[in-house]
Amino acid sequence: MNDLDLVVRHARIATAADVFDADIGIAGGRIVALAQSLPKAPREIDAAGRTVTPGGVDAHCHLDQPMAPPVRMADDFDTGTRAAACGGTTTVIPFAAQEKGQSLQAAVDDYHRRAEGKAHVDYAFHLIVSDPTPKVLAEELPALIARGYTSFKIYMTYDDLKLDDGQILDVLSVAREQGAMAMIHAENADCIEWLTRRLEAAGRTAPRFHAHARPMLVEREATHRAIALGQLVDVPILIVHVSGREAVEQIRWARGHGLPVYAETCPQYLFLTAADLGVDDSYLGARCVCSPPPRDKANQEVIWDGLVDGLFTVLSSDHAPFRYDAPEGKKPGGREVAFRHIPNGIPGIETRMPLLYSEGVLGGRITLEKFVELTATNPAKAYGLHPRKGTIAIGADADLVVWDEREFVLRNEHLHHAVDYTPYAGMTLRAWPGLTLSGGEVVWDGQSFHPRPGQGRFLNCGAPSLRPPRRS
Ligand code: URP
Ligand code: ZN
Ligand code: ZN
Repeated sequence: MNDLDLVVRHARIATAADVFDADIGIAGGRIVALAQSLPKAPREIDAAGRTVTPGGVDAHCHLDQPMAPPVRMADDFDTGTRAAACGGTTTVIPFAAQEKGQSLQAAVDDYHRRAEGKAHVDYAFHLIVSDPTPKVLAEELPALIARGYTSFKIYMTYDDLKLDDGQILDVLSVAREQGAMAMIHAENADCIEWLTRRLEAAGRTAPRFHAHARPMLVEREATHRAIALGQLVDVPILIVHVSGREAVEQIRWARGHGLPVYAETCPQYLFLTAADLGVDDSYLGARCVCSPPPRDKANQEVIWDGLVDGLFTVLSSDHAPFRYDAPEGKKPGGREVAFRHIPNGIPGIETRMPLLYSEGVLGGRITLEKFVELTATNPAKAYGLHPRKGTIAIGADADLVVWDEREFVLRNEHLHHAVDYTPYAGMTLRAWPGLTLSGGEVVWDGQSFHPRPGQGRFLNCGAPSLRPPRRS
């Protein structure tokens, strides 16, 4: 056995496959031994029987993504990965977004500059393809996939990002040829625009009407179309941020027909409802404006069921951080604007794992193995980072979370993001990471963050290694 640098002793280790008691031996930032009674090492941590899971892999978050002025994301790679670490996430995959007219390579270069010297935990990039020119399709995208940018997001809505069906087919064809993972934001842009205009004409512009402009039907239609486009090209797709029953039904239909359709959901669809966007015309609801919008309690149950029965492959945060009381945030230019102009997205990079651990595992809804699968193992497999990331195994990076099980009421002051609110304030949580290790180094000790800017490494991703989804 290599000389150990660190032993995490008396761990109750949880992987996606099982739960067992052992010590974890670490050398050179990697796990090198899993056994009972490992020899003494220069550094020792006593987990004292607490549960230890792999560090989380947040495979859908937005950090320092360029926005149209005056809007700006609150979190960059410094504050975003700080918050991630304190919430038990040790790998983040944000998006290098191509602007229309920009080369994809230029978007990637710019995004590397934004990350350089800042990240406290490891990171990879997804691409966002918004302008699939012949050069992008034939040269740039295949070259980037070959160099480790093996996943990209396609938008069916948002004027500055959306692709039409023909463009989606073109981009999916590249995913098929190159073995990349295509993530799809499925909402019907024309329906949203039509509904938005009607709401505006009726003077209904308060934040809560965001949900009226994006009913489940627009997500259902686009999900169905995305599935059909994927089937036409014969390529796996992953539908991101699935919000409720109607999209779930489309994905179940696809699975029933043996189609390789994966699905992601997020805590906002388990813990928030449309009422969080406001029951009156108060502007406070802007804090929970995201797309698709949260639905209702019955739909939360549909999402929980999908986590339990394997419909969902991945649970991500979709952290899209905008300050509430700020001219660069939810009040663009300092004004309370019509819902159409409210930046979409909510913070959640730090709360993703504790929310699911508290309500899912300790609330008796999901097993510990399922928690690990959804928050770490499957995202690592989906985006070509497994087994280096997403598991506790010999040879894996020593990215670990030791869980403290204790009740407390969450307040934004507990968090480490640069956002001035959390949608989950006031919720009673039952657990929080007592320790986060990234590459064998303590980044969060349960009380304090241990900064290591620039120590987070860029990860070149391999091919996706998920099994085909089960017929359901
Ligand atoms: O409202 C959301 N989800 N904002 C982030 C961007 C996206 O579409 O994921
Ligand atoms: Zn999206
Ligand atoms: Zn997103």
